[in-house]
Amino acid sequence: MNKGLLKGKKGIIFGALNDKSIAWHVALKAWQNGAELVLTNSPVAVRMGTINELAKITSSRVIVADATSMIDIDKLIAESMEVFGGRFDFILHSIGMSPNVRKDIPYENTSYENMLKTFDISALSFHRVLQTAYKYDAINPWGSVVALSYVAAQRTLAGYNDMGDAKALLESIARSFGYIYGRDRKVRINTISQSPTPTTAGSGIHGFDSLVDFSDRMSPLGNATAEECADYCIALFSDLTRKVTMQNLFHDGGFSSMGMSQRAIEQYQKSFDECDCDEK
Ligand SMILES: NC(=O)c1ccc[n+]([C@@H]2O[C@H](COP(=O)([O-])OP(=O)(O)OC[C@H]3O[C@@H](n4cnc5c(N)ncnc54)[C@H](O)[C@@H]3O)[C@@H](O)[C@H]2O)c1
Repeated sequence: MNKGLLKGKKGIIFGALNDKSIAWHVALKAWQNGAELVLTNSPVAVRMGTINELAKITSSRVIVADATSMIDIDKLIAESMEVFGGRFDFILHSIGMSPNVRKDIPYENTSYENMLKTFDISALSFHRVLQTAYKYDAINPWGSVVALSYVAAQRTLAGYNDMGDAKALLESIARSFGYIYGRDRKVRINTISQSPTPTTAGSGIHGFDSLVDFSDRMSPLGNATAEECADYCIALFSDLTRKVTMQNLFHDGGFSSMGMSQRAIEQYQKSFDECDCDEK
C-alpha cells in the first residue's frame, strides 16, 4: 500500500532493531508513503542489529543515541534538524526494556535498581525526547508524536512485570506533554496500545507464546500484526488525524474490550477434558 500519505513529511523513528521490530515496519511504510527519515537506536542495538540495512533501503541517516542519555538525545534532535534542514513532522518512540523481565525476576521480588532502569528506558526516555524537541522547537505545527504501549498499563497481565508500570507512566507522559504541545505548538501526542507481537522485546516476556495465543482467541478480529500497527502509525502521522491527541488508542483486534470469548472458553474447557485431576 503506497498512498503518499506522508509526502513531504520528515520524521525520526526510534527502535528498529531488526526486521521483526514494529519500528522497522513503521519506517518502511513511512518511506513508502513519501517520508524522509532519521533512524536511531542505542549503540549496542546498532552494533548487534540490522538497522543499517533498513537505512540503505529507505535512504535514511542513522544517528546513534542511548535514550537514557540526555546528551545523546540532545545531539540526536540537533543533528536531525541539520539533516532535515530545519523542523520535522513526526516521531515514533518504540523503545522498551526491563532488566527484571530479562532476568526473570518476579514483580514481588523486584530489584529497584532494575525497576528504575525499566522506567528510565521505557518511559522517561519519552519525556526526555519530548522535552528536548520542545526546547529546540523541532516539530512543525500539526506534527504528530506516537509512542507504543500495551494494555498492561490498564490491566494486570501475569509475566509483564514492571513493564506494566512503565507503560502506565508512558501513557501519562503522552497526556501531560500532549496538553503542552497542543496548546503551544499545535502538535499531537498519542500512544498506540498494540497486541502482543513476536519481536525481540515481546518474546522476552515470560509465557509470551501463550499470551499471544490467549490474546488472539480473545480478540474478535484477532491479534494485530506489526505491519498493521505500522499502518495505524502512518494514519496518525498523516494529516487525516490532526485533531486526535492525548489518547491511548487500542490497536488490538478488540482484546481490551473483551471479558471472555467463545474461542477462549473452548480452549480452557479442553484443559479440563484432558485433565485427570481430582477437581475435574
Ligand atoms: N512486541 C510486543 O508484544 C509489544 C506489544 C505492545 C507494545 N510493544 C512496544 O513496542 C515497542 C517496540 O518493541 P518491539 O516489540 O518492536 O521490540 P524490539 O525489541 O524490536 O524493539 C525494542 C527497541 O527498544 C530499543 N532500546 C532498548 N533500550 C534502548 C535504549 N537505552 N536506547 C534506545 N533504544 C533502546 C531496542 O534497541 C529495540 O530496538 C516497545 O515500546 C514495546 O514495549 C510491544
